[in-house]
Amino acid sequence: MRLTGLLVALAATGVLITGGARAAAATPPAHRAPWWRGAVIYEIYPRSFQDSNGDGRGDLRGIERRLGYLQWLGVDAIWIAPMYPSPQVDFGYDISNYEGVDPRFGSLADMERLIAAAKQHHIRVILDMVLNHTSDRHPWFIAASSSRSDPKHDWYVWSDGKPGRGPNAHDGRVPPNNWVSLFGGSAWQWVPAVHQFYYHAFYRQQPDLNWRNPQVRRAMFAVMRFWLDRGVAGFRLDAVPQLFEDPKLRDERPLGGVNAFGDPILDQSRTGDLPEVHVVMRELRRLVDSYPGDRVLIGETYLPTIQDLDRWYGGARHDELQLPMDMRLGFHGDHDHLDAAAFRRRIMAAESGLHGSEPLFVFDNHDNVRSIDRYGDGRHDPMINELLGSVLLTTRATALLYYGEEIGMHTTPPARRSQVRDPIGIRGWPKEKGRDGERTPMQWTPGPQAGFSTNPRTWLPVPANHATINVQTERADPGSQLNWYRHLIALRRGESALRDGRLRMLDPGDPNVLAYLRGDAGGGIVIAMNCSAVARTVSLHIAAAGVQPVPVETLLTNAPGLRDARSLRNLTLPPYATWIARLRGRPRSSASAN
Ligand code: NOJ
Repeated sequence: MRLTGLLVALAATGVLITGGARAAAATPPAHRAPWWRGAVIYEIYPRSFQDSNGDGRGDLRGIERRLGYLQWLGVDAIWIAPMYPSPQVDFGYDISNYEGVDPRFGSLADMERLIAAAKQHHIRVILDMVLNHTSDRHPWFIAASSSRSDPKHDWYVWSDGKPGRGPNAHDGRVPPNNWVSLFGGSAWQWVPAVHQFYYHAFYRQQPDLNWRNPQVRRAMFAVMRFWLDRGVAGFRLDAVPQLFEDPKLRDERPLGGVNAFGDPILDQSRTGDLPEVHVVMRELRRLVDSYPGDRVLIGETYLPTIQDLDRWYGGARHDELQLPMDMRLGFHGDHDHLDAAAFRRRIMAAESGLHGSEPLFVFDNHDNVRSIDRYGDGRHDPMINELLGSVLLTTRATALLYYGEEIGMHTTPPARRSQVRDPIGIRGWPKEKGRDGERTPMQWTPGPQAGFSTNPRTWLPVPANHATINVQTERADPGSQLNWYRHLIALRRGESALRDGRLRMLDPGDPNVLAYLRGDAGGGIVIAMNCSAVARTVSLHIAAAGVQPVPVETLLTNAPGLRDARSLRNLTLPPYATWIARLRGRPRSSASAN
């Protein structure tokens, strides 16, 4: 799986929803402080969400138009992928001005309007912040690469290289080490004007900033203040483990084999997660904490172990990021498949390995094949998508949703190389088809361009399946995936046991059914999910989790036969079905086994 692998070197029918959740959907959000704990954060790829001016690309006014939908769905915040001025080599992750809005997406005034309008809908706005690199067209880099004596020269990572020959040689010098770009080829680019190479972890048009230079820190902190002063609720920090590189520029260790670009796979020990980055994270945390309103720092943190992830929270000190992403739950590796035991292990690791911090779970984003195409089997896809939603939205965690996930949008990769827009797909074709497939326009209606744009020439083609997979059709169908997600979100908002309650696994030896109890002395909710393709009949043993069995009341299920279930015994879950029930009566502690 592309970015994960690269960075880590690592028809639902019969939905039952009872009073609790329906009532919850109608009541205003009852947030605990801080607001982000247990929140649902919805990622918007602005090019692909809603076009308001008919140019075939989404924009900020388009997002504003859809706030009513997002409020109806129940999201607490939106994270908008980069909308800053940019040459768009990496579709906005190459920023040439951090304090503006690209005219393709609108204006600064549109962004201010969007923040204000979102507030009216009880939705906060989180921006993407790219600290690791700028565009090579950013004035900082233009100055830095003009002369070694330019005051900005040291803002980037330079090397004279070493004497040598070969394809990467310039004036008899070659790059200083074996580092490769995550997007293919050497990570070093020669600049004749300064007679040096600069380092780029991503495209060569994305030179890495030198975070050892205090002026860089000051400049980037000022940029963040610029947006915090305009009322953004926080930032999603792009590629943040990559901020520092080994000052001695030592080689990385080859792990054997080559990636889709034909480059050796390296251990990334000299370019990722270096200790100094945590000093910067603590400074950043102090910065956001100096603002009122619980501003939040979210990290794009593909990390191999829970211990690594815990360090990004600041461990027991809780003084770094509030929400580094836990990619281990949703992105297992190259061959994702539903596995109750693996989900259980990873959920419990987050429960016990993070010093009580709030996990941030995620199954989808703009860099990876959509989860339905990784976990789906082609036969039960809608049920599987609902199951993934159940895991995401019933665990004790903040949840990240990616636009379209709630309606079951699929990945639609380009059929031919000539159609590819994402440069990594052009370079890596056919092994790496790029990320266009998961960035196709949001499917709003069964009509022209899926209601995304009036322009038939959309920036990426609208998938043909919008005829059935779209917001309008699914909104009208009580048994749709969309309504399943909405009910889950409403339930979690309305039930304190689901938002705050501790999580205790039930029947941890069951290889097929993932079940847990959420709750505390105030009330308990049981969730059971069949992760297999055949019906499973189970009895859930809550006494083993320290709670006496009591009668139950079904709150939400896509297993028609379980609507009237009254106990935890002999429950038959159809393939991939979810059953969520409230314990009636207080879940008293029990000394006896069930
Ligand atoms: C991670 C972003 O999610 C991805 O889209 C981008 O290409 C790289 N970082 C580089 O900024």
